[in-house]
Amino acid sequence: MSTAIRVTDIARTFPVRVGLFSRPKLLRAVEDASFVLPSGGTFGLVGESGSGKSTLAKIVLGADEPTRGEVRFGDRVFGKEARDSDKRWRQRAVQAVLQDPFGSLDPQMNIGDIVLEPLRIQRRGFARDALERRLDELLAQVGLPAEFKRRRPGELSGGQRQRVAIARALVLEPEILVLDEPVSALDVSIQAQVLNLLKDLQDALGLSYLLISHDLAVVAFMSSHIGVLYLGRFMEQGTREDIVQRAAHPYTHALIAASEPDALDVKAIGGEIPSPLAPPAGCVFHTRCPSARDVCREDAPPVHWLSATHHVTCHFPLTSKA
Ligand SMILES: Nc1ncnc2c1ncn2[C@@H]1O[C@H](COP(=O)(O)OP(=O)(O)OP(=O)(O)O)[C@@H](O)[C@H]1O
Ligand code: SF4
Ligand SMILES: [Mg+2]
Repeated sequence: MSTAIRVTDIARTFPVRVGLFSRPKLLRAVEDASFVLPSGGTFGLVGESGSGKSTLAKIVLGADEPTRGEVRFGDRVFGKEARDSDKRWRQRAVQAVLQDPFGSLDPQMNIGDIVLEPLRIQRRGFARDALERRLDELLAQVGLPAEFKRRRPGELSGGQRQRVAIARALVLEPEILVLDEPVSALDVSIQAQVLNLLKDLQDALGLSYLLISHDLAVVAFMSSHIGVLYLGRFMEQGTREDIVQRAAHPYTHALIAASEPDALDVKAIGGEIPSPLAPPAGCVFHTRCPSARDVCREDAPPVHWLSATHHVTCHFPLTSKA
């Protein structure tokens, strides 16, 4: 199977000043992250706030540069240097849909101009009637009536605005969409409609998705492959079935327990997330892990491969054989 995205050993640090006169400290937002998204699949990145999801998304999009590591799309390599032709390819072929359907659309523009704007930015000349046809086709694809093109974002509901954002992401005929919390600002009843639309578009257009959500239920519904991030590190990765049915990392278990419909408290994971400026020694999850033992406080855990598709970074993975 061909590969849409291959991320290898990506790290991103930010120098952060804690006090006015203190020396900057290095915040390790992402540490040695690697994953593969097969073409036509969806890689779901899940983790709590601050785990590094958006940082990884921006690096894949080219909106941020990694401190180390490389991103490949097929045989196009984005490492320390990238070819200009590959950068131009990425600007067209990798598009984003972000969380905020309120902030991301210019309130002064009408929907038609918003959807077609990426074509203008790329200076692609089209005849007026060809643009109109493309606009009508895109609005139909995202389930909006053609007359919406003359409305402004303020006249639309949150779900309709997110459909506009999706149409705009599709106008340049991308191959990959980066979806960063695409439904988390929407009512739960609307979330399912937008997720189903994204699935239909993926099938119809052969798209590959990098999907980001703090909500494991959203990620499990959409993804062929899942990676669980905590403090910028992958705790566990596998196919959807590996993660949903055979989770082996204590943090994944906690996320699953917190996402059960009858969970008493969505914050079922005890304790606070440590500061990313001072991550715990040993296993970064040890301060909250019910399975932690002495070795976890001292030694970083190794990667255990549980199958050809499933790996976990833990001294004591919770496998059924254990
Ligand atoms: N430009 C920046 N400068 C300094 N620190 C940053 C910057 N961008 C991100 N960070 C820090 O990097 C860490 C990861 O942030 P990121 O936005 O990737 O997390 P996230 O998983 O997307 O969180 P959320 O669910 O809240 O969106 C956080 O501690 C954040 O404060
Ligand atoms: S290495 Fe130890 S502390 Fe970390 S998740 Fe595994 S059991 Fe818990
Ligand atoms: Mg984010």
